[in-house]
Amino acid sequence: MYFLSLEITVSAKSLNGKGVHGNGIHHVSVNGSFYPAKAKSRRQRWEVKPSEMANNTFNPIRAIVDGMKLTPNPDKPMIALSIGDPTVFGNLPTDDAVLQAMKDAIDSQKYNGYAPSVGYLKSRQAVANFFSCPEAPLEAEDVILTSGCSQAIDLAISVLCNPGDNILVPCPGFSLYKTLAVSMGIEVKLYNLLPEKSWEVDLQHLESLIDERTSCLIVTNPSNPCGSVFNKEHLQKILKVASKHCVPILADEIYSDMVFPGCNSPSMASLSSDVPILSCGGLAKRWLVPGWRMGWILIHDRNDIFGSQIRQGLVKLTQRILGACSIIQGALENILNNTPQSFYDNTISFLKSNSEICFNELSIIPGLNPVMPSGAMYLMVGINMDNFPDFKNDVEFTEQLVTEQSVFCLPATAFEYPNFFRIVVTLPEEMMVEACGRIREFCERHYRLHCVQQHRF
Ligand SMILES: Cc1ncc(COP(=O)(O)O)c(C=O)c1O
Repeated sequence: MYFLSLEITVSAKSLNGKGVHGNGIHHVSVNGSFYPAKAKSRRQRWEVKPSEMANNTFNPIRAIVDGMKLTPNPDKPMIALSIGDPTVFGNLPTDDAVLQAMKDAIDSQKYNGYAPSVGYLKSRQAVANFFSCPEAPLEAEDVILTSGCSQAIDLAISVLCNPGDNILVPCPGFSLYKTLAVSMGIEVKLYNLLPEKSWEVDLQHLESLIDERTSCLIVTNPSNPCGSVFNKEHLQKILKVASKHCVPILADEIYSDMVFPGCNSPSMASLSSDVPILSCGGLAKRWLVPGWRMGWILIHDRNDIFGSQIRQGLVKLTQRILGACSIIQGALENILNNTPQSFYDNTISFLKSNSEICFNELSIIPGLNPVMPSGAMYLMVGINMDNFPDFKNDVEFTEQLVTEQSVFCLPATAFEYPNFFRIVVTLPEEMMVEACGRIREFCERHYRLHCVQQHRF
């Protein structure tokens, strides 16, 4: 028997507007399905173009690095101090307990399926337990698991901001915030950090930027690219500004607890009960497994300002990609509970020692102004460009450093902060010493004193 597909043209009216597109004319097949009538102006040729969102997605680090002429000196092995991935040199393996947790998760065969889009309840509970404190208690429902901290930031910005809103972003700061915001039509307002005050926030400047379309303040503590750590008093001052102007905070705390001994930096949420905070974090840095792509959002909302709407919004957004990798979620509880304190302590003491070596070596180089970090895994170095007339800016300076010395530091123009460069301090100590020696040789070769005098007088 043949099925005769009878097509009838009907007007929009007779369909009560249901399923009507474009000119309102539909073809209806006998089985009741609809599809649009032949478009009037059919395309005559292929025209497939990237979307506006794709066109507006811009990674400044890639743009700058890809535009640089990086031709290392063939007589010197390359030392890349530019990559914020602690695994690249192989000297900082993760802890055995972390690996074991992952192996157990695989062997159990329990995590091969889809997890709920916000993450397994058990894994969310483990994160809540790990970060909960009396001042900022957390339940499993306050945790959303994500694919890396990057997705946590993406979701947090997406749930808080509409196109046309603006967000406040530290300068210098991690470039992802701008990459995400601009692609969503959100304006980025940069607030200054002060190098002479160990990169504390210029609070007056911050406050001056807030207007009625400001939908979120991003605070990165400890900081990439500065390696700075805010103390309790400074965090309270930032919170006061947010509270005064009713601006929620996105606290990027991916480096939380990666703080050198002697410094103390509580989580933002533990210092405020009125400012709603989305704290973004993950396994990448502290557990030294950035490739595992495990992150989270901790929802702190003790005054019920986010309420159920922001929570529901976050849940909806997680449904776009169905969340973080199940296997890592399966390993998470054991990772958090079984990693020994000695692992964290050893990592920190290595990062501190390397930072000190780097800072001490670079401090005595004329024309350079390193700023000693207090945490994370970075150090920023100011360049007195007047002393280096051979170069127009930090990009040319770092480019030529590769050409002559095969040392690659990231020009801080990538963080909207010209005339600085960022050094990653995760490399083996002897490489750090070697790199600093080469930077000294380079600076001594190009340093000119008279330019400073001309400038000053
Ligand atoms: C400040 C900051 N936030 C977030 C991230 C992203 O973390 P993840 O690798 O977990 O996506 C990074 C990575 O370098 C970072 O430095």
